[in-house]
Amino acid sequence: MRIIDSVREMQQQADDWRRQGRRIVLVPTMGFLHEGHLALMRKALTLGDVTVVSVFVNPTQFGPGEDFERYPRDPERDFRMIEEVGVDAVFCPSAEAMYPQGYQTFVEVTEVSGPLCGERRPGHFRGVATVVAKLFNIVKPHAAVFGEKDFQQLVVIRRMVGDLNMDVEVVGHPTVREADGLAMSSRNIYLSEDERRDALKLSQALKEAAELVDAGERRAEVILERVRDVLQSGRHIRIDYAELREPDSLRARSRIDGPTLLALAAHVGKARLIDNRVLNPA
Ligand code: PAJ
Repeated sequence: MRIIDSVREMQQQADDWRRQGRRIVLVPTMGFLHEGHLALMRKALTLGDVTVVSVFVNPTQFGPGEDFERYPRDPERDFRMIEEVGVDAVFCPSAEAMYPQGYQTFVEVTEVSGPLCGERRPGHFRGVATVVAKLFNIVKPHAAVFGEKDFQQLVVIRRMVGDLNMDVEVVGHPTVREADGLAMSSRNIYLSEDERRDALKLSQALKEAAELVDAGERRAEVILERVRDVLQSGRHIRIDYAELREPDSLRARSRIDGPTLLALAAHVGKARLIDNRVLNPA
């Protein structure tokens, strides 16, 4: 497996692969990998001829006072895990290589970056869209895999790729969960034992909402009230948002008249966790 930290070298490798007619698939990550990331990589292996994983904790998507400095990092462990899956190359640039002195260009996807995490983390999706656009220009992938765990991120990237005519196939992958339902996340490491128990309430709330919809409930306020009750039964939880939205436009929905995204964010101890599920009325 090649480990590449230079932008120029990565672009040259991508050009070589393309000249050989190979299909390149990229999995962008911020490292501190878990089974969710590995599932994306295994999916990527089935989609093309060469797979590249990027490991880069992107400073521009963290707001002031967020966890950029303390975001967990363990590159050596990450590289071992990536190699075991059978990935061809890791791209792990420095922040200085990605954002040198004088850097001033950003990608803004306006509407779908507005609500949910966009509202609570101003500038977050501008940072995400910018770094993903840069990674696409450096790794030159034919396809890229993203997790549905970060549903709004996937919507933002699909929009950017469509709007800017980027020639990259965006592939979504279902959320990978622990046996008890907790969505895997690098930030789960912040949780104490008690907090982890409360963190389970996010996936429980999603499940109860789906059961309500299965039982015929269509009113958003009734579903959200149940969701809030489940979340608030945890002592260490502070709800950030619980919202029902149309899955492509992310416009608010007051009735579940078609597939509807239930998106949750909550502070549990020091961690801010997100989870979501698309509710499908029969
Ligand atoms: P990171 O949080 O490391 O996630 C990398 C990819 O793994 C994302 O596509 C994310 O949705 C996916 N992922 C994380 N947990 C998952 C889970 N439990 N199940 C399925 N997929 C999961 O998301 C980012 O990094 C960054 O914003 C990035 C896109 C790399 C841009 O910096």
